[in-house]
Amino acid sequence: MNEKIDWSNLTFSYMKTDYNVRCTFKDGKWGEIEVSTDETINLHMAASCLHYGQEIFEGQKAFRGKDGKVRLFRIEENAKRMQNSAIGIKMEPIPTELFVEMAKKVIQLNERFIPPYGSGSSLYLRPLEIGISPRVGVNPADEYMFIIFATPVGPYFKDGFKPTKVAIYREFDRAAPLGTGRWKVGGNYACGMGATAKAKANGFSAALFLDPKEKKYLDECGPANFFAIKDNTYITPKSGSILPSITNMSLQQIARDLGLNVECRPIPVEELAEVQEAAECGTAAVATPIAEIYDEAMDHTYVIAKDGQPGPITTQLYNRLRGIQHGEVEDIHGWTTIIDL
Ligand code: PLP
Ligand code: COI
Repeated sequence: MNEKIDWSNLTFSYMKTDYNVRCTFKDGKWGEIEVSTDETINLHMAASCLHYGQEIFEGQKAFRGKDGKVRLFRIEENAKRMQNSAIGIKMEPIPTELFVEMAKKVIQLNERFIPPYGSGSSLYLRPLEIGISPRVGVNPADEYMFIIFATPVGPYFKDGFKPTKVAIYREFDRAAPLGTGRWKVGGNYACGMGATAKAKANGFSAALFLDPKEKKYLDECGPANFFAIKDNTYITPKSGSILPSITNMSLQQIARDLGLNVECRPIPVEELAEVQEAAECGTAAVATPIAEIYDEAMDHTYVIAKDGQPGPITTQLYNRLRGIQHGEVEDIHGWTTIIDL
């Protein structure tokens, strides 16, 4: 354990750790896993990732449990989603076994950076794949680099589980109308940065994007999916332009386990007037309650948490999810992988 780190006060930001792991796809095959201490990469200036956005990434966390064991949450789902992202933009899919082996290795190599149980922090893994062949014409690369780095992180939103405020700005799209939000592609996120910057400048924690085609239905927030609780039902947007969140998928199952109904369907903005709870959910955001949603075009604020407190169902969902991730609640769905240390 690294003694110098103030584990309970970490933010969601990059911290140098000891090692990262890398693997290169060349001559039609993946090579050996390399262990590196270098934080930088040597890249051709014409690499396809730089010009044509051949870059995909993932995010997951390793948690130190009450029992001292370190767990990864639904790691195979991240591998599967990264394969879909790769196929979506003509990159080389990373085999699940390679993905999982490298994720385990980077955790083992950086063991001293895994935050202690109870600190509220975790070790965040950031797998990324880039096209490295020089390309001037718009063509996919034939060589790829896959890297996983690890960095200890605290809550994505500075107040953790305290309800935040978000804003809807219709002039921005996070994803293209064709729906590229369903892949974790770096460029998609850059599209949303204008909205997020505007939201933050106005005192909101995030922007809540609408569907890019009609601007009528809720899509997702910049870094997370959206869900709401309405009359004992967990409702979450069905949309081709949002990222299929593994956290959201898991919360839907937990909601069913808790006896709630689950509806995945288009949610018109005005329906926000009828919900009792709302939250942003994702690996980084976990389940961050939303107290208010400001719709700029209508100059209307939907006040969801009138007392400014997390709602009871969001709290139950959050506790169950975190309990499974930290080995405190029985993992009845077999979602966690214990890492040998
Ligand atoms: N939506 C976006 C845009 C995200 O970046 C993320 C985080 O990866 C999510 C949703 C949540 O996905 P997950 O729960 O798989 O982390
Ligand atoms: C994650 O939750 O892992 C994400 O990738 C969100 C992120 C854009 C910070």
